[in-house]
Amino acid sequence: MSAKELENHYDAVIVGAGAAGLSAALGLLRSPAMARMTERDGHAPSILVVSKLQPLRSHTGSAEGGIAASLGNEEHDDWSWHYYDTIKGGDWLGDQDAIAILAKEARATVIGLEHDGVAFSRTADGHIAQRRFGGHTSDFGKAPVRRAAYAADRIGHQILHSLWQQCVAQGVDFAEEWYVTDLVLSNDGGGVEGLVAFDMASGKIRPIITDNLLIATGGAGRLFHTTSNSWDLTGDGMALSLSAGLQLEDIEFMQFHPTGLAHTGILLSEAARGEGGVLRNATGEAFMSDYAPTQKDLAARDVVSRAIRSEVDAGRGVPDPKNPNGPHDCVWLDMTGIDPNRMRTALPQVLDTIRHYAHLDPTHDWIPVKPTAHYTMGGIPITTDGRVYRWNDGERHVIDGLFAAGECSCVGVHGANRLGGNSLLDACLFGRRAGESIAQNLESGSHTSDWQDQSVQERSARRRSEITDLLTQHDNAAHPDDAGADDNAYNLLNDLGTVMDQALAVACDATGIDEARRTIHDDLLPRAHALHAHSATTAFNQEITAIWEVRNLMTLATVMLDATAARHESRGSLYRHDFPQRDDVHYLAHDMTDASGKTTWQPVHIVDTPPQNRGY
Ligand code: FUM
Repeated sequence: MSAKELENHYDAVIVGAGAAGLSAALGLLRSPAMARMTERDGHAPSILVVSKLQPLRSHTGSAEGGIAASLGNEEHDDWSWHYYDTIKGGDWLGDQDAIAILAKEARATVIGLEHDGVAFSRTADGHIAQRRFGGHTSDFGKAPVRRAAYAADRIGHQILHSLWQQCVAQGVDFAEEWYVTDLVLSNDGGGVEGLVAFDMASGKIRPIITDNLLIATGGAGRLFHTTSNSWDLTGDGMALSLSAGLQLEDIEFMQFHPTGLAHTGILLSEAARGEGGVLRNATGEAFMSDYAPTQKDLAARDVVSRAIRSEVDAGRGVPDPKNPNGPHDCVWLDMTGIDPNRMRTALPQVLDTIRHYAHLDPTHDWIPVKPTAHYTMGGIPITTDGRVYRWNDGERHVIDGLFAAGECSCVGVHGANRLGGNSLLDACLFGRRAGESIAQNLESGSHTSDWQDQSVQERSARRRSEITDLLTQHDNAAHPDDAGADDNAYNLLNDLGTVMDQALAVACDATGIDEARRTIHDDLLPRAHALHAHSATTAFNQEITAIWEVRNLMTLATVMLDATAARHESRGSLYRHDFPQRDDVHYLAHDMTDASGKTTWQPVHIVDTPPQNRGY
């Protein structure tokens, strides 16, 4: 009987159907090892992609401005400049061996996407068009370079649809709207036994047995109230890993994108500045030249977000015109210098977002913007082949059969601050590599074919009884004196976001970190444990998943605060008022933090570019 016929047994399972998960599925399917196995066994290994969303709703679809690669289609470029920019952008916390792979394989990755159907915008002579993006330069920082390959301002939509269509064409099985609740490792923690998922449509718990599992569940922007991330970016894969006893790497580095649309946090792509947009303060001054004399508005994102915060703190911020008596916590994005026709063809999404949500017209209005939580630089530690490891006793200990890719993972390429356009690249490139590693695992037979399902079945039973409890409490909630009767996951999400915004957004210090830890411990965690569902049905009861999501966010928030508290320096996106300098003597290292808050340090891989001053 083939694995597939057993229904809940798969040779490989991929959790998450964004760019990373789909690239992994394609990397696996297209690998030479896969072809050899299919010929050898007379059938292909069974693969399942599990997603808590219909795949085309994955957050990849909202990526806007571009994917970075030194194609040199608009002006001369070189992978070594991309390599240098990425190291510098990450404030020297990136692993240079991994960054070299990123920069060298970027071109083939983008051409591969073109072959998979991505409808890139084109130059006049038919090549893939490229635009300027923050921190991308020629000749090791001398001048901005056009490196972001784009499709108007909808590159993520293009990539997601193309990869998904390729997967459908290859016959990949999707379990859509299944929410993964448990990652089950073997008792010694050295291998994978499977996972447990909640099938939202039927309300049933599904045990899935596999010994090759890839996590590609995206980031955790929903930790914050002001975020560009969709409601689904609740860090589930990272929280699952913590619960399974694994560590997260560099999780204190959260990127705040400078141009979130005021009071919605919705992304206004960096492409708006790449096309000529300028940030202005309350007096109309284009202030970025004071902070980044060379790159100005196209400096790295952490530099621009901090500059906005400095202007606001100095009393030169502006209020959201929709709330003129509100806080002056925004600055202006002035796009009026961009030719309106160019704006319509190159930035249609930005234009629509501004019109729909701010009722302004960027061809003649200045737009209020403020930094918005955008990207989780840290995550599940992986090797450059996508293998998850634990950092113990000064060494990486790979967990057999466990892989990760994309924003939930940390391969070490973004360091302390990611450059725009490098995230889609990371997801597609290292996603493919992880898929190829799974194929190698399958071919080498290093996985067991002796399916162990006892632990998975036990965890499934536990989840079933948890659901019964959540629903039984629904009956009890009819009694108003019950703790948590009026509370719900959405209130809690809101409160957690406010706490995290106050403690960590753009800048922080020990007092704020400690206060946030106390509030989470004394107030939010007890509330999270007391949550229950307000409807007794299991089918499509989104409150059940919302409760799990917010509990996952609580786990992550705690670990993020612990990791932040452990790093006594400022670097990249992490700015500590109480430790304002970068400290390469003590902190040129990745922190590896587990669910108990224990942090150990892994040295950064410096190959040929030692730390320098980072001026932009
Ligand atoms: O601004 C943007 O279009 C975002 C791009 C990115 O995060 O890479």
